[in-house]
Amino acid sequence: MAFTYFFRDLQTLELICDQTIPELRSQLEFKIWDAGCAMGPEPYTLAMLLRDRMDQPDFEKVKIQATDIDGSDLFDKIILAAEYPWEQVQRIPTEIFEKYFIKVDNRDYYRLNDEIRGAVSFQKHNLLSLNTIGKDFGLILCKNVLLHFNEQERIEVIGMFYDSLVEGGYLAMEQTQKLPAELADCFETVVSNARIYRKRSHKN
Ligand SMILES: C[S@@+](CC[C@H](N)C(=O)[O-])C[C@H]1O[C@@H](n2cnc3c(N)ncnc32)[C@H](O)[C@@H]1O
Repeated sequence: MAFTYFFRDLQTLELICDQTIPELRSQLEFKIWDAGCAMGPEPYTLAMLLRDRMDQPDFEKVKIQATDIDGSDLFDKIILAAEYPWEQVQRIPTEIFEKYFIKVDNRDYYRLNDEIRGAVSFQKHNLLSLNTIGKDFGLILCKNVLLHFNEQERIEVIGMFYDSLVEGGYLAMEQTQKLPAELADCFETVVSNARIYRKRSHKN
């Protein structure tokens, strides 16, 4: 199973919320691609953080398309069910946990409520195919995935992300993932304490 957990790298996710929420209020839809999402804790964490900061009509605009190569062939079912065992949810802050999770009858599992589940969809997708899953994303989140690729593959995948973002859209990666120098002109740095970049209008 891929390594992941709820509320991983909270700093980056909170900074993303701070950056994007004021902008998405004026939009009809806010498309997010979580690339390399594993079995769901990351896209569902982002959904909970956004919901916690937004009212219901604004949150309805949020569509998180989660993708993964999913060698186990299990992520689709897990993400759709949105049920996780106690060991995986026990460290979620109590206030958030009580708001968004419901105990599953007769099992030590907890299910996300329908509103959070409804914001996230999943499809299998290989980033190295370099085929996008769509256009006009306001945010692409790709954390702890690119480190498995070589430098050339990273450049090509991030180039594909560039083409999939709206102008001014955001790309977020893990703290240790630097933007390759070849792509420095394509993005501007948004914050100094996380790997969050913003698409510039011209790709050189
Ligand atoms: C360490 S997990 C990261 C999960 C989550 N993003 C996080 O940071 O917690 C890496 C994920 O990348 C996925 N992955 C690896 N190669 C991939 C590829 N070529 N295309 C799409 N996903 C891939 C793996 O299946 C795995 O679920």
